[in-house]
Amino acid sequence: MTGILDGRAAIVTGAGRGIGRAIAEALAAQGASVIVADVGTSISGDGADPAAAREVAAAINDGGGEKAIAFTESVASPGVAKQLVETAVKNFGGIDIVVNNAAILRDAFVFRADPADWDAVIRNNLSAPFYLINAATAVMREQGKSGRGGKEGYDWGRIVNIVSSAGLYGNLGQAAYASAKAGLFGLTRVTAMDLARAQITANAVAPFARTRVTDIIQPANEAQKTYKERALRIGAHHVANLVTALCSPAARSITGQLLGVRGREVFLFGQPRPVAKLEAGKPETLAGELTAKLGTRFTDLTTDLEAFNTEPLV
Ligand SMILES: NC(=O)c1ccc[n+]([C@@H]2O[C@H](COP(=O)([O-])OP(=O)(O)OC[C@H]3O[C@@H](n4cnc5c(N)ncnc54)[C@H](O)[C@@H]3O)[C@@H](O)[C@H]2O)c1
Repeated sequence: MTGILDGRAAIVTGAGRGIGRAIAEALAAQGASVIVADVGTSISGDGADPAAAREVAAAINDGGGEKAIAFTESVASPGVAKQLVETAVKNFGGIDIVVNNAAILRDAFVFRADPADWDAVIRNNLSAPFYLINAATAVMREQGKSGRGGKEGYDWGRIVNIVSSAGLYGNLGQAAYASAKAGLFGLTRVTAMDLARAQITANAVAPFARTRVTDIIQPANEAQKTYKERALRIGAHHVANLVTALCSPAARSITGQLLGVRGREVFLFGQPRPVAKLEAGKPETLAGELTAKLGTRFTDLTTDLEAFNTEPLV
């Protein structure tokens, strides 16, 4: 059987369960060899259990071949990111696809949050993707020059960063998580720009799917309650479907984009650009001018859970 990712090597972080697992399985089903990277930690990042990654790798290999390898160290360090890429190169001959999906949550209102939790979330959800992109793209660029990908040229470098609508809209009590995800979007843009000449694409995907994380949402209001009830019906395979498409040869011209996926709906998000302007007066008058002239264009404080509480297409 041939797939759209035959012969390609992928790393998926956080692939031991939830959305990451669905992505790893979908990439493998299309012919990619996959490193299932998951330390097996709790939602808040406490503890480690290699069983999840091993089970997913075994399940993929059960389908035939030695396509999957479990990698069970935490990816939140530059040294481990390098090791992860070396594991792909050693076992699969290169690295073509990186999906930064692993994340943790340590929610608290900004006025109560512990700075140590902030540091842990930023390191895990933003610095770790940087470490991996940094290590993997250095190898991808060299592969491009040395002809990996055959006669048709190398147009296979694919980076997909799993972000969150919480980093775009914001959500109550998610300062660290939303900041990390907003930062990951910034990292996606710069990665797309820095690697455009090397034909390596980088895109951000904001997913919606039922996982252990949506199961524990504590709704803060009616809109969030509706969001949760509807989220419980959405399978992670829809996210995997979009990510797989973005990793395929046909997606070579899609880069620097911010997409969302919720069931069968795929969203293209706008990216922040000026929507209005005025010529500034003095500080005593500027706030009044801003309100009077641009106030109708101000962005309201709708949370992401409120914005996406509509009926999903499943
Ligand atoms: N579920 C949703 O609706 C939703 C919404 C928005 C964003 N997301 C994003 O989607 C991604 C997957 O979410 P999920 O709901 O499947 O989460 P999950 O908690 O079910 O799975 C995350 C996995 O990442 C692993 N992980 C965390 N830190 C790691 C590290 N340092 N090294 C290796 N593995 C690590 C965990 O062990 C876990 O298996 C995350 O980036 C999350 O922020 C999910």
